[in-house]
Amino acid sequence: MQLDDLSLFDRITERRATGSLKWARYENRDILPMWVADMDFPSPAPILDAIRHRLDHGVLGYSVATPDVSEAVLKYLLEQHSVRADASWLTWLPGMVPALALCAAISGDSGDSGDAVMTCTPVYPPFLKAHRDAGRELITVPLAIDDSGRHTFDFDAMEHAVTPRTRLLILCSPHNPVGRVWSRSELEGIAAFCERHDLLLCSDEIHCDLLLEPDAAPHTTALRLPDALHRRLIVLMAASKTYNVAGLGLAFAIIPDASLRRRFQAAKNTFVAETNPLSFAATAAAYNHCEPWRLALTRYLRGNRDRLAAFLAERCPLVRMPHIEATYLAWLDVRSLGLEHPAAHFEAHGLALNNGADFGAPGFVRLNFGCPRLTLEEGLSRFATALP
Ligand SMILES: Cc1ncc(COP(=O)(O)O)c(C=O)c1O
Repeated sequence: MQLDDLSLFDRITERRATGSLKWARYENRDILPMWVADMDFPSPAPILDAIRHRLDHGVLGYSVATPDVSEAVLKYLLEQHSVRADASWLTWLPGMVPALALCAAISGDSGDSGDAVMTCTPVYPPFLKAHRDAGRELITVPLAIDDSGRHTFDFDAMEHAVTPRTRLLILCSPHNPVGRVWSRSELEGIAAFCERHDLLLCSDEIHCDLLLEPDAAPHTTALRLPDALHRRLIVLMAASKTYNVAGLGLAFAIIPDASLRRRFQAAKNTFVAETNPLSFAATAAAYNHCEPWRLALTRYLRGNRDRLAAFLAERCPLVRMPHIEATYLAWLDVRSLGLEHPAAHFEAHGLALNNGADFGAPGFVRLNFGCPRLTLEEGLSRFATALP
């Protein structure tokens, strides 16, 4: 595939009646799903070939990562993120969401101890639930908006909200839903905050390869922050969002500190199921063979983002959208439209968006533009029709 050939992403793949979470909810209704975060593109050919090859073996018993999968991840970490990791740092998981709960579970005293988990809102909804099973409190601190209209951390508010019982900060980096790629200095502020208050830092970096402006807004993994952070650091990554294989269920935690890793793995072995063999094959193929596809994808997504921004500026200037530096998710401030239930309103007009209230921000909706341009145009036309 040529890097300049983006027509691959223009093709429409019918997803109805395939058991797609995104499409099944509205199967028999004329509602276009632009909600849950997967893309309407087939995964790259090398991934599909690797899965077929693994399948041809025929035996699909309980699986562990073969050395080639770990090597693919270590090479990826070095080449894409300038991190020299050791294979022992990796812990495989059937998804990121269970890992968030594991971080909460190992981050303080057992039972209902009053220990707390902090995160910054708006944020991916499972961040707001990760504390529950571990019996933790939840402290949320709204992100601030700086003079240039960008979301950033409100360190004063975080200092104000943190308590002596706060044990864990869950960070979304890059951020879903506001689309920020945090700068190194913002992340250094987070690292210093965690040091000051003796917090574990869980950095969810699932969107770190979906950079729409890699030169202007490059991703800094928390693993590249000063080594002193390592003793309190759990980084979560996956090939799932970038290569659209979320349905296969595979993520990995990178934990440099051996004792923290042992605690995490002990909790994992108690609570979390094994990962599946096809997802290992897919992850190795993604990191070994799919970089040209990723580069083409992010160019295509950048085009979708720009089309969406132009549409809003022209057709509905009252709807505000922060500049999206990463992800295929747009965070729309529709408060000026005066809708009581914005997501339900758009749904009634044939467009399924995520409800901002689930992210801790009523009055907002999230739109998924990880789709062919024609599908996006259909969504925009429905959006325009829904405007009061
Ligand atoms: C920030 C973030 N973390 C985790 C996930 C889900 O990860 P998984 O499917 O591996 O549980 C998503 C999915 O949208 C996400 O946006």
